[in-house]
Parts: sequence; structure tokens; C-alpha cells
Amino acid sequence: MTQVRPATVADAPLLAALHAGGGGDRPWSAGEYQTFLARPQTLAWVAMTADGPAGFLIATLMADEAEIYEVVVAPAHRRRGLGQALMTALATQAKAAGARKIHLEVAADNRAARALYEGCGYQAVGRRKGYYKYSNGDTADAILMTLAIQE
Ligand SMILES: CC(C)(COP(=O)(O)OP(=O)(O)OC[C@H]1O[C@@H](n2cnc3c(N)ncnc32)[C@H](O)[C@@H]1OP(=O)(O)O)[C@@H](O)C(=O)NCCC(=O)NCCS
Repeated sequence: MTQVRPATVADAPLLAALHAGGGGDRPWSAGEYQTFLARPQTLAWVAMTADGPAGFLIATLMADEAEIYEVVVAPAHRRRGLGQALMTALATQAKAAGARKIHLEVAADNRAARALYEGCGYQAVGRRKGYYKYSNGDTADAILMTLAIQE
């Protein structure tokens, strides 16, 4: 059964390894995760499976808004609800902390992530042309998405 637990600064190397194993074009270093995890406004979780840690989500809470920076699930553990469990953990804690909205940006060509976010109720509210520049020279638009979590 999947469990989601809060991430701590000690998880920085784990997050870097999970990202390097399937997180996209520009992996963060363990040092970057360490800095981010040490901030009091950071919200982060690790998804645990019977095989060990298999995903994470990292976000920031600022005043009454939260912003997701990354959600990554190891390729061998995808499509088993881990991404959704991480998104639910964030929405629950952000709501309890008084946040009214959660924001994120996603590459227009990231079909899996867009489907995850739409399934969690996020709505597209804007687009940034050519925002993502990949190491191979390609670009992709960023879709800005928002979830309202308080009435
Ligand atoms: C996006 C990502 C986090 C999804 O994680 P996941 O654990 O596979 O997601 P879930 O199993 O919780 O999927 C929940 C729903 O999202 C949608 N979804 C997830 N992956 C999908 C895919 N490849 N194609 C279509 N829909 C998908 C489905 O609706 C799915 O429900 P279902 O399996 O019942 O059909 C994962 O694919 C990933 O790590 N991608 C690489 C990193 C990344 O791009 N992160 C986002 C930007 S930081």
C-alpha cells in the first residue's frame, strides 16, 4: 500500500536520485534540494511503497497560496496512484494551513502530468509561449494551472 510521508532535509539525496531517474530535463542537485527542504515555507512529501521510496512532491507555501515545483514518480511505479497521493497530501496540508489556491506550471507536451493535474481538479488559467527550453534546443509552452481549495 502506498503511504505518503513528509520529506525532511535528510531526504535531499533521495529526491535528487528520484529526479535523476525520471524527473525531466534539468535535474536538481542534492545540494539544491537540501537548501529548498530547509526553508520553513517548503511543503514536501515522499511516496513510500513496499519497494521503498518511489516518488516525491515539493512545493512552497506563500501567504495564502501554494505553488508546486516538482512531482516525480519513479518510472517503475507510475500509474499506481502515487502521483495522486502526493497531490492529495499537498492539497490537504495547504488547505489546513489556510491556503486558498495552489498554482503550478506544466509543459504543454507533458501529457502525463497534465492528465494528473486535471484529474486532481486543476484548471488551465494561462500559457507562457516557449517557456521551457530543453537541452536539445526544443521549446515547449508552459500551461499555468490553478486549484481553488477554499470556498
Ligand atoms: C506525472 C507523474 C508524476 C504522474 O505520476 P503517477 O504516479 O504515474 O500518477 P498516478 O498513478 O497517480 O496517475 C493519476 C492519474 O493521472 C493520469 N495519468 C498519469 N500518468 C498518465 C499518462 N502517462 N498518460 C495519461 N494519463 C496519465 C491518469 O488519469 C491517472 O489515473 P489512472 O491511472 O487511474 O488512469 C509521473 O508520470 C512522472 O513522474 N513524470 C515525470 C516527471 C514529471 O514530468 N513531473 C511533472 C512536472 S514536475
